[in-house]
Formats: sequence, C-alpha cells, structure tokens
Amino acid sequence: MPATMILGAQWGDEGKGKIVDLLAARMDAVARFQGGANAGHSVVVDGRTVVLHQLPSGVLHPHCRNLIGPGCVTDPAALLREIDDLRPVVGDLGPTRLLVSANVHLVTPLHRWFDVMQGEAIGTTGRGIGPCYTDKVARAGLRLGDLLGSDPGPRLQEHQERFEALARAFRLPPPPAPERWQPAFREAVAALRPVAGDVAGAIREVDQRGGHLLLEGAQGTMLDLDHGTYPYVTSSSTTVGGALSGIGCWVELDRRIGVAKAYATRVGNGPFPTELTDALGEEQRRRGREYGATTGRPRRCGWLDLPLLRQACLVNGFNRLVLTKLDVLTGLPTVRVATATDADGRPIYTDLPGWTDPLAGLTRRDQLPAACRAFLAFVEERLELPLAAVSVGPDRQETIVEETLWH
Ligand code: IMP
Repeated sequence: MPATMILGAQWGDEGKGKIVDLLAARMDAVARFQGGANAGHSVVVDGRTVVLHQLPSGVLHPHCRNLIGPGCVTDPAALLREIDDLRPVVGDLGPTRLLVSANVHLVTPLHRWFDVMQGEAIGTTGRGIGPCYTDKVARAGLRLGDLLGSDPGPRLQEHQERFEALARAFRLPPPPAPERWQPAFREAVAALRPVAGDVAGAIREVDQRGGHLLLEGAQGTMLDLDHGTYPYVTSSSTTVGGALSGIGCWVELDRRIGVAKAYATRVGNGPFPTELTDALGEEQRRRGREYGATTGRPRRCGWLDLPLLRQACLVNGFNRLVLTKLDVLTGLPTVRVATATDADGRPIYTDLPGWTDPLAGLTRRDQLPAACRAFLAFVEERLELPLAAVSVGPDRQETIVEETLWH
C-alpha cells in the first residue's frame, strides 16, 4: 500500500504537528509507531493551540482512523485524560476513530517514578518512557492485550516487586505502594478495551479500500536509540526502520518527508554542535517561543546544521523536505548555516544575507523576500532535496505548500 512517512530530522520539536495535520486532512488513517506521552505535537486550530501527546494528529479530522502501533508505549490514564481534554474540540474518539494495538507496552506510575528518579543525567521528560521500553526489552513488560486477557493482578504484583527490588539496588526510597496506583491503573486499562485491537489488520483494511496511510513520527532522528546522539536519546526507534516495525506490517513508503526547523533546537542534555549559548540563542528562544510542549522546559537553540541533516537523509531516505519556523529568522542581519565539519567535529559555517520583511500572510514561495528565497534554495541544493512545504507562522494557514507535498 502507498504510504506517507513524516519524521523529525533533528532533535524533535521540528513543528511536525502542523504539517502532519495538513497531510492528515487527505488521509484515511494516521498511525503513530513509537514513543508515548513524551511527545508533544502542537497544532493551532482556529487560533487555539491543541497539544497532542499520545494521540495521532488525525484525531483533528473526523474522517480519519487513528492508530497507535505496537511500537508505541501507552500510559493508559494519561491517554484517557488526553481523550477527555480533546472532546470539546474533536468529539468522541470511539473505536471507529481510534485503535490502540493490543501489543503496546503500558507505562505505569512505577515507570514514571523510576524515570524521575534516574532520568536527570539525560534530561528525560519524566514520562516513564525509558523504564517502560527497558522492561519491554527485558521481557518483563506489561502489554495491553495481556492485561485485558486475564486477571492483571499477578502481573501487577510482579511489576511491583520488580520496582521494589530496583529501588533497593539503586538505594532509592521505596516506589509508590500498590494501593496508591493499581486500582486507578486497572480501571484505566479496562476503559481502553473498546479501542484495543490489531493495528496491522486495520492497515490492511485501509489498503483494501484503496485508502492512504500516514506514518507520524515523534521526537526526531537524532533522538533515535540506534542512530541518534547516544546515550542522549529517547528509548525508541524514531527513524524509518522504527516506522515499519512499529506498525507491524509492510507498506510502500512513497513519500518520505523530513521536517527540520530553519534553525535547530534541543531539549535535554547531549551534543549540539551549532548551539548558541549567547544572547542570540536567548533571542531565538524568545522569538521562536522555544519551550517544550510536554514539559515546558526552555529549549537550547542554535543554527541550522546541514551535515546533521545529511545524516538524517541517509538514515531515512527522505525524498522531500519541510522547513518550519522560517519567520523566526526574520530580522537577523546574517543567517548562519553549518555546511561542513572540521577535523575536530566543530561546525564550519556559511553566512547568508538575512531579510527584514515579515513573512506572515505569504502563501507562495515567489512572494518571499529575495534573501529568504536564496536561503531556501541554498538548503535545497546542499541537501539535494525538494522543499515540499515551508512554515512561516504557527497557524494552519501560515504555510507555503508545494505540489510535491501531495504527489
Ligand atoms: P525520554 O524520551 O523522556 O526518555 O527523554 C530522552 C531524551 O529525549 C531527552 O533529551 C528528552 O528531552 C528528549 N525528548 C523526548 N521526547 C521529546 C520530544 O517530543 N521532543 C523533543 N525532545 C524529546
């Protein structure tokens, strides 16, 4: 089946949410394939900002089926809260609109507790993602289907004992007692029964109807467990391999869209070669409103890094590029772009002329200031990728869309 994949090309927060939302309007199904409540996709709908964490962005389109693939980890109570919070905007998300793979691993309050206790060195989001994937790999995880299929009591008891042992081994205070979390957790798991099922089967149905599927990545390429800036990464496969294993079936990935900001940001710790630690970095943070959608943490800011994007293209086979937040660069006398790396791994920059005219309201590339067009052409040429869309403001309408986004 023909499918479109959209992934972050940097360290997440590239502004994928808005582009995914645009694409979702023409899709029959949207699937998430990795990650969980650590993600935060902001979409501005009619002037109101909606932040999606675990739900695919297709929930904003009533005709779309939304799939949470087996490569994801699901926090049941947080997912139910997200569904409730969104009800006034998107209506009811019953089984015709939402399907959660029975094979997703569940994030428990003990995973979150351990993440908060241990995640500081990496700067994790504290959503329990790493501990949950750790349990999955250790073959000690809790899968949604397993807990729905039999009395969850014994498995939850084993889980409790596992974390009590971990607490002792790491000399931590004891984890939350079972009576403090298990009743609410069991209730939340049971509430997901109507939407639990087989995601690969649902994709086959979409295919049989001649429908289109969108694979929606979370985080970004440089946070991939295997291909990112290890160990400063998330615990899932955020790249193309993760997309296929995380939905659980083969699809033909015709359109492979990489999304990058016109500059670069990172939350959490780890290498960031083009980081600006001076007043200009602070100014970029202020102008780009660079604060985490999930945790509210200030994001580190810096220049666009083309060697890093080339690496992301290599990993994912991108055949289209989307550049976001171009408007944030407006007013800078010079726009810097890292174009190579020296022998010590430090970036080598090319300086391009900046532009001053505001970009808001522009809908075609030929309306952009000449220096802005030259910047876009430079990026396209260096990456050997066509630009499928350029975002010039937060609203749905503030996007220059090229035909290549759709064909
Ligand atoms: P975790 O995913 O919470 O385990 O965090 C691991 C690393 O990934 C930390 O540096 C986080 O800040 C980062 N991270 C996780 N999710 C996101 C996201 O959605 N956007 C940007 N960074 C993220």
